[in-house]
Amino acid sequence: MTTDTIAFIGGGNMASSIIGGLCASGWPVNCIRVSDPSASQREKLHKLYQVPCFKSNLECVTNANIIVLATKPQVLKQAIKSIRDSLSQTQPLVASIAAGVTGPDILKWIGSPLPLIRVMPNTPALVNRGVSAMYANDLCSSQHKETVNHIMTAVGKTVWVNTEADIDTVTGISGSGPAYFFKLMEIMIEKAVQNGLTEDDAKTLVIETAAGAAELANNSEQTPSILRKQVTSPAGTTEAALLSMESSGIDQVVTKGINAAIERSRELAIILGEH
Ligand SMILES: NC(=O)c1ccc[n+]([C@@H]2O[C@H](COP(=O)([O-])OP(=O)(O)OC[C@H]3O[C@@H](n4cnc5c(N)ncnc54)[C@H](OP(=O)(O)O)[C@@H]3O)[C@@H](O)[C@H]2O)c1
Repeated sequence: MTTDTIAFIGGGNMASSIIGGLCASGWPVNCIRVSDPSASQREKLHKLYQVPCFKSNLECVTNANIIVLATKPQVLKQAIKSIRDSLSQTQPLVASIAAGVTGPDILKWIGSPLPLIRVMPNTPALVNRGVSAMYANDLCSSQHKETVNHIMTAVGKTVWVNTEADIDTVTGISGSGPAYFFKLMEIMIEKAVQNGLTEDDAKTLVIETAAGAAELANNSEQTPSILRKQVTSPAGTTEAALLSMESSGIDQVVTKGINAAIERSRELAIILGEH
């Protein structure tokens, strides 16, 4: 059986994590290629994973049948320009992890209708605990979807969404979501220290509480709502905290924040498509 050859355009944090996960899952290193303008980044990737690294995007995509676009969104158009003729000729499967750049804009820049999968990962992918949502355009076969699913499960879990607009919602939930939990952790650590705990103890208590709650929610048959009720004894401390948070409008504050992220994702798609 032959393995597909994947070319990563951009070898930064996210590409590096996915490549690491792929290598660990047994994808042959000679079937992974990566291009990046930075010599030190290429050296780092080659040292870590022994994958062929290229300065030239065009050289990188030669003989590849899967292209993963992994540059920052602002430079994606320019990166595509350097490979568009080759892609139009070889008609590979394209996957893009660039936040905010729509599939139709990518295909417009390539200038050819290709099977394209938009992927929205999140930062815990850097420690193989990411979750990615993916949307496949009409030209993708189930084999294409299976292949990209395999690539992204190298750094965490995956879900498929039915419309490209759902990617904006995903951005407001799991894409930006780690920052919401970090914000809560920041507040909790600060309060613990203000109440006399050491910074180290506060960090351990807060981070382990977050990780433990996530693990419990993941392993339990119950919904987070039921789990919350189970730890909330009548007239107890948790109830006091939750009643206070609810009366201060925690539901509205979080809802407003998520809506702002979704709205910004829609706006960025327009701005990035125009520039
Ligand atoms: N990190 C996340 O949590 C996350 C979550 C969701 C989506 N994403 C998306 O994933 C993509 C990559 O993010 P990242 O955090 O891995 O960014 P990153 O670390 O900055 O990696 C991007 C790499 O692309 C290189 N590059 C710049 N111009 C290029 C070109 N024309 N051709 C080829 N490579 C080029 C950059 O080199 P220089 O640094 O030398 O410019 C850099 O090494 C972004 O589009 C982001 O929106 C990331």
